[in-house]
Amino acid sequence: IVYSILVAVAAYFVGSLSFAVIVSRVMGLNDPRTYGSKNPGATNVLRSGSKAAAVVTLLLDAAKGWLPVVLVACFGKPYGLEEGAMALAGLGAFLGHLWPVFFKFEGGKGVATALGVLVGFSGWLGLLVLACWVVVAAVWRYSSLSSLVAAVMAPVLYILLGGDLWEFNKWILLAILAMSALLVYRHKLNIQRLLEGKESKLGQKKSK
Ligand code: G3P
Repeated sequence: IVYSILVAVAAYFVGSLSFAVIVSRVMGLNDPRTYGSKNPGATNVLRSGSKAAAVVTLLLDAAKGWLPVVLVACFGKPYGLEEGAMALAGLGAFLGHLWPVFFKFEGGKGVATALGVLVGFSGWLGLLVLACWVVVAAVWRYSSLSSLVAAVMAPVLYILLGGDLWEFNKWILLAILAMSALLVYRHKLNIQRLLEGKESKLGQKKSK
């Protein structure tokens, strides 16, 4: 249990690296917390006009969720770290992204990081949830709506296909449920804008 807590804390620190802010700074772009939705995430970095910065942000924010989970999966066994510790590692990174210790606890909404965590849990799961995101985005062109649908689908898919595509584990399910609930909660302004028809679409530069 001590090792599990250490893992969760370490993952939290890794998750606290807000790559939207870091990448924008390195690439000489404006701080994403000052324009558009003001969210430090890949979607909002895209509103700066730099696709490259958005892609790098997406990949790094996903990687910081994926890495802690995979490290525990690969090297945890001798220390007694199993699925429960993987769940804690993923959750730690996700919480770091939402409330980063390095950025006054003002973080993002967790979409890319949650995706990375899911890929760490199971490549198939990550792929299927990403597919949900892509399909919704292709049809309706709202990043937030895609993220919300994907967040609902993640635990549903995990339960439905558990035992077939991956081994079902209750700790992993709890971590997915917690991430999905927090992700939806962080999208409350997006939900309001979607209902009012005011949400900005992908490919549009400014959020209304
Ligand atoms: O990835 C976050 C996305 O779901 C919404 O971002 O900037 O439109 O609030 P944003």
